[in-house]
Amino acid sequence: MKICSVGLGYLGATHSLAMARLGHEVVGIDSDATKVDSLNAGRVAFHEPGLDEALRESLSNGSAKFQTSFDIPEPPDLVFICVGTPQTGSGKSADISFVFSAGESLAKVIAPETVVVGKSTVPVGTATALRDRMSAVAGFPVHLAWNPEFLREGTALEDSLNPDRIVIGSWDDFSSQKLKEVYKPILDRGTPFVEVDVPTAELVKVAANAFLATKVSFINAMAEIAEVSGADAVELAKAIGYDDRIGNKFLRNGIGFGGGCLPKDIRGFVARAEELGVGEAVSFLKDVDSINQRRRARVVTLADQELGGLKDRNVLMLGLSFKPDSDDMRDSPALDIALRLAQAGARVTVHDPVSLVALGDQHPELIREQDVSASAKDQDLVILGTEWSEYKAIEPKAFGDLVANKLIIDGRNVLDVAAWQAAGWRLIALGRNVHN
Ligand code: UGA
Repeated sequence: MKICSVGLGYLGATHSLAMARLGHEVVGIDSDATKVDSLNAGRVAFHEPGLDEALRESLSNGSAKFQTSFDIPEPPDLVFICVGTPQTGSGKSADISFVFSAGESLAKVIAPETVVVGKSTVPVGTATALRDRMSAVAGFPVHLAWNPEFLREGTALEDSLNPDRIVIGSWDDFSSQKLKEVYKPILDRGTPFVEVDVPTAELVKVAANAFLATKVSFINAMAEIAEVSGADAVELAKAIGYDDRIGNKFLRNGIGFGGGCLPKDIRGFVARAEELGVGEAVSFLKDVDSINQRRRARVVTLADQELGGLKDRNVLMLGLSFKPDSDDMRDSPALDIALRLAQAGARVTVHDPVSLVALGDQHPELIREQDVSASAKDQDLVILGTEWSEYKAIEPKAFGDLVANKLIIDGRNVLDVAAWQAAGWRLIALGRNVHN
């Protein structure tokens, strides 16, 4: 099928390449010429496993091309809207202006039989307004459907090609049939398929992210209790996780969730519910957000207590991205903690296997180090902020010979406590009672 995808960020670039891999002919559009040039030159602008190979493959077989303009030789069968919906500068609600501007530009180039599909995460009610605006510009009733995306950074392409479900919200059969056709290879494998109305499809995405954020904050709330009662939140998560109504996923306590999705989506959800007059229904998400923020503050307090003040102390932050296998530092707990420590007067060195490039010259107060061993030199405190596998493989004895003071805070609960303690480290694991 002929497909057009608007927005070439994490979602749009991945979706375009996934569609090309399924055998469709894809034109990707983004107003950012740097992004487009980079993709046409075979380079994905962010770190995402497998995406570079998929890009090279689709450029060489001609299944995908990228451009800044909305000039398309013939109207596509389907258009996917994959633009960002960031938190507004002024408040907590989602900024949906990019969705509307993409929609209006598209309305000038599509045909009455083109199906427009929203994939961006939007406040419920956006699709109705978008359909009306697009139809007014196009001069015919636009076919619009909503098809939320559940990909995770770090496994984005794999998640797009092998999703655990496909959700389609539509107002008419024609649109849902077209979407079933585009996803045929995935649906033929028996992938669960949920067909719903459009507002439900919009809500599914924010509800899923709100639930995941709530799970993480729940276990982090248990970690707060564990820390003052001598209990162990890691063992607790294991024990409750065996109940398959609870499940053991997304129950890892630590410095909390970050990224371009969970934090802004829960805030946007609260803002939208308040607009709809049912703010109380999701007001607990404000607590979910507060618990998450408190974990970051907790690490700063711990560092201060352990070091007897932060001024001029040497602190190493291992990891900057919000999760491993990504160089995304949006709302990253590790970066946030590093900045708070620097703000409090510590000399903060940062290491990350891939994110230093994306960090560029932002935050000059942070000292960059590209080599893990070199980064350890003279440190008074090490904090593990992102659980890259390279950090889990650090040999505690040799690493201990490099630092000034063998003190480590494991912000992700991934280190082998016994091995680090045996090598003479004082290890503080968040929410755990294993400290020596
Ligand atoms: C999230 C959702 O998981 C995806 O399903 C969704 O498609 C995506 O947002 C989106 O809206 O586009 P992502 O932001 O890539 O995906 O990251 P997650 O894997 O959800 O992790 C989010 C954060 O939670 C990370 O900072 C991670 O370290 C943290 N986390 C996760 C924990 O602290 N504990 C856990 O047990 C799990």
